[in-house]
Amino acid sequence: MISRFSRAFLVITFALFLLGSLMLLHPPSRTYLDPWTGDLFGEGGVEKDLHTFPASAAEGMHGNVIMPKLGNATAKAELGRATWKLLHTMTLRYPEEPTDDERAALNSYFHLLSRLYPCGECAAEFQQLLQKYPPQTSSRRSAATWLCAVHNKVNERLGKPEFDCANLDATYDCGCGDEPVSTAKTPSNGPMDLEADLSKDRVTGVGMIKGGR
Ligand SMILES: Cc1cc2nc3c(=O)[nH]c(=O)nc-3n(C[C@H](O)[C@H](O)[C@H](O)COP(=O)(O)OP(=O)(O)OC[C@H]3O[C@@H](n4cnc5c(N)ncnc54)[C@H](O)[C@@H]3O)c2cc1C
Ligand SMILES: *[C@@H]1O[C@H](CO)[C@@H](O)[C@H](O)[C@H]1NC(C)=O
Repeated sequence: MISRFSRAFLVITFALFLLGSLMLLHPPSRTYLDPWTGDLFGEGGVEKDLHTFPASAAEGMHGNVIMPKLGNATAKAELGRATWKLLHTMTLRYPEEPTDDERAALNSYFHLLSRLYPCGECAAEFQQLLQKYPPQTSSRRSAATWLCAVHNKVNERLGKPEFDCANLDATYDCGCGDEPVSTAKTPSNGPMDLEADLSKDRVTGVGMIKGGR
């Protein structure tokens, strides 16, 4: 039978041991964390933000609009045209048969865009659209068609004509060498591919950008 004091002593010792192990396990870095304030000290002085590597892809995905109102109507329209071009081209080059990771990436992209789009009032509208019509990511076709429908919702609100989504391929054909939407196949690893996993950074485990497919 051990005394209450001994028991408390053991518990505290164990807790300190655990804390020490956790600190040792922390990867080495050129910066130092002040355990009291949470401030990071490094070569660039005090850095307030620890989050250079998001813990998960979903971090920061949900939340309110970050950007202010964009008053200039000309700039707003130019930004819109450029963005739609980017987005439609993106969904039309997205894999025919995406992996779960690729699906999560596209979903995060749209949600992050709805926070960071440089026209704040447009972003707020876009957030509502995403809530009503969550991104469809199961295939290139579904993603492209979903985006076309969402763009049409914006067109409708702004009093613009509806776009015929059957014309997507013809309108956004970038001539960049991908196969047509209906027949493209996701390439599988050949027999000469000996390296176990080239898709991840060996050190950080961060997923790497894949070569053009
Ligand atoms: C996410 C987002 C939210 C926006 N919200 C607002 C807002 O709240 N208020 C505001 O004033 N502006 C908003 N804009 C900008 C607006 O949608 C237009 O981009 C801008 O008004 C310029 O319009 P446009 O007539 O040149 O054609 P755009 O709508 O920019 O379209 C560019 C071209 O894309 C093609 N296109 C049209 N519809 C589709 C479709 N459904 N699918 C595929 N291709 C199509 C056509 O060839 C068209 O000429 C937003 C833009 C984005 C990307
Ligand atoms: C509005 O934006 C357009 C395009 O970016 C720019 O050329 C113009 O000077 C801007 N107008 C004002 C009043 O800032």
